Amino acid sequence: MQPDISVKHLNKIYEDGFQALKDVNLEIYPGEIFALLGPNGAGKTTLISIICGIVNKSDGEVKAAGHDIVKQYRKAREAIGLVPQELNTDSFETVWDAVSFSRGLFGKAPKPAHIEKVLKDLSLWDKRNNRIMSLSGGMKRRVMIAKALSHEPRILFLDEPTAGVDVELRRDMWEMVRKLRENGTTIILTTHYIEEAEEMADRIGVIRQGEIILVEDKNRLMSKLGKKELRLQLQQKLDKLPGELTLEPIELSEDGYELIYTFDSQQQQAGVARLLRTLGDLDIEYRDLQTRESSLEEIFVGLVHE
Ligand SMILES: Nc1ncnc2c1ncn2[C@@H]1O[C@H](COP(=O)(O)OP(=O)(O)OP(=O)(O)O)[C@@H](O)[C@H]1O
Ligand SMILES: [Mg+2]
Repeated sequence: MQPDISVKHLNKIYEDGFQALKDVNLEIYPGEIFALLGPNGAGKTTLISIICGIVNKSDGEVKAAGHDIVKQYRKAREAIGLVPQELNTDSFETVWDAVSFSRGLFGKAPKPAHIEKVLKDLSLWDKRNNRIMSLSGGMKRRVMIAKALSHEPRILFLDEPTAGVDVELRRDMWEMVRKLRENGTTIILTTHYIEEAEEMADRIGVIRQGEIILVEDKNRLMSKLGKKELRLQLQQKLDKLPGELTLEPIELSEDGYELIYTFDSQQQQAGVARLLRTLGDLDIEYRDLQTRESSLEEIFVGLVHE
């Protein structure tokens, strides 16, 4: 399958000499939801801006929908919708006019039926005759998405789509993004809410100081790098960890009433069975136990600080 986005050996050095991207290589496939995660200043917006033709690359090759973003700028740009991180929404225009005008910017013939569908999908139909400046923050954000979709792009970039958006609206937004994907749109989003990537993404890329340090299927990432934890509440207090257990990745809580065993998802069965057997042999009784898996957040924090 031909990737929708292909980035090869991409570097970006800003005019002041700062290198914001270092040899970035990335392919994103049709119909994917790809989440780009990284701390502030990692280079997410720079990468997106280069793909969308807003910022010039220093070197490397970037294609969108098979078109070189420099040599075939128009074709590449036409395939892309961008919802930027910084929203410009002090507009006197009505929702309908703004979204229709956006389509015109791409040289596309008017298509009111499409604009109507986009506004309905985004729950903006009732507001179509309102001026943008009179809308709430969440609605303004949806107008930006409508504008990005006005020319029927096959690839949609969302740079921090839910920054400053309340929990309920964030859920609506996720729902909407899923709907777009069902219609075949490829979606690339950046986010600080790791919960968002965990909920939505098929694949995750982690960027740190201008370098992509990892690209992985979300589920594989979580089972590969995730840790599990088993906690056992003991019937009787232990003063110290019995010698038989000291080689295991196990800890005794300060009050002596809890054992905490941490393990990789992969070697899980063998380890837990062995632990429980050993406890039985030592006559250590427990009254309760729980397991817990690490979240993408913990994996991410581990990766970025490594
Ligand atoms: N025009 C510019 N000139 C010089 N340096 C820049 C310019 N734009 C961005 N940078 C620097 O490039 C780095 C990456 O910035 P970028 O906006 O891509 O980060 P980001 O990952 O999107 O961060 P955030 O999560 O805060 O949005 C930062 O160190 C930033 O200061
Ligand atoms: Mg950014």
